[in-house]
Amino acid sequence: MTTSVIFDCDTGIDDSLALLYLLAHREVDLVSILSTAGNVPADVVCASNLGWLTLIDRTDIEVCLGAAAPVACELMTTEDTHGPFGIGYAELPTPTITQSRRSAADAWIELTAERPGELVGLVTGPLTNLALAIRADPALPARLRRLVIMGGTFHHPGNTTPTSEWNIAVDPEAAQEVFAAFGRDGAPEPIVCPLDLTEQIVMTPDHLGRLAAAAASSPVEQPSPEDERGLRSVASNAVIRRLVDAVRFYFEFHEDHDEGYIAHMHDPFAAAVAVNPAVVQTRSARIDVETTGRLTRGTTISDDRGHWGLEPNALIATATDVDAVLDDLIDRVAALAVAVGKRPKPQ
Ligand code: RIB
Ligand code: CA
Repeated sequence: MTTSVIFDCDTGIDDSLALLYLLAHREVDLVSILSTAGNVPADVVCASNLGWLTLIDRTDIEVCLGAAAPVACELMTTEDTHGPFGIGYAELPTPTITQSRRSAADAWIELTAERPGELVGLVTGPLTNLALAIRADPALPARLRRLVIMGGTFHHPGNTTPTSEWNIAVDPEAAQEVFAAFGRDGAPEPIVCPLDLTEQIVMTPDHLGRLAAAAASSPVEQPSPEDERGLRSVASNAVIRRLVDAVRFYFEFHEDHDEGYIAHMHDPFAAAVAVNPAVVQTRSARIDVETTGRLTRGTTISDDRGHWGLEPNALIATATDVDAVLDDLIDRVAALAVAVGKRPKPQ
């Protein structure tokens, strides 16, 4: 069965892997890619999305530009995590396509109106554009078949403040409005993939080596903490070359932040859930977002004991088979890389 996906992202290194995963999946119809400001500014996100589609020769897919700033605060970005262009050390081809004439918010509204009940929403960045769309069209949530969000943290340290996760912390008001709009009036409960689980999806240099080997790329490069910083890939395969350059940056970032020479694959995991929710165990919850706390702004809160007396509005992802998720990611992205490598003049 085909899964038709609206992919709203703040491309980012792990967003890039999520995008490749979706492009690699034969059962996925990637309807539109929405570029949200977060890891880097929205226009930079948009350019990377166009660049990836140019590399993969999928210039048939729409890429929309989202709002330049969160709904109620200044934009914060994190080039130290994802690189100046959001793709680490990678350099993508100059896009041969341009962004859509419609905004990300309008694409959310129009696509779900054209295909009510059919589309799966996947958000791996701040919820800015989905919130703007719901403000303009409050009936939107009930038109989605499924919504998967990479975001939040509950019983696990934050990665942006002690208690908040990046995608929520960039735009807490948007996240609060989105969580309030789902789980009622026929709208599905979003599957929320928090750091509690996504920080278990750990890519290592060995995984990257397996990916290169599966793509028959040579040489098979396995970045190492002993490598000189910023060493560029010479992989024969055009997709593997970019991935090694992107993920190396991410390895270096995690090492510099005492996480080890690894990379958390937050967004590819959320993409796998969007395509097949059976890969994850969930628990029903009532979620809200702190927007005014001096220390806690951007914190996602799950009312697990019913203190608020409100109905559940989300499903929190709690467990998965981590090895199976990473094996699936490697297998599918490697097959995509092989297909791109077989095309004349892969870039
Ligand atoms: O906190 C991790 C999330 O924030 C990931 O989606 C990453 O790409 C950044 O957007
Ligand atoms: Ca992201």
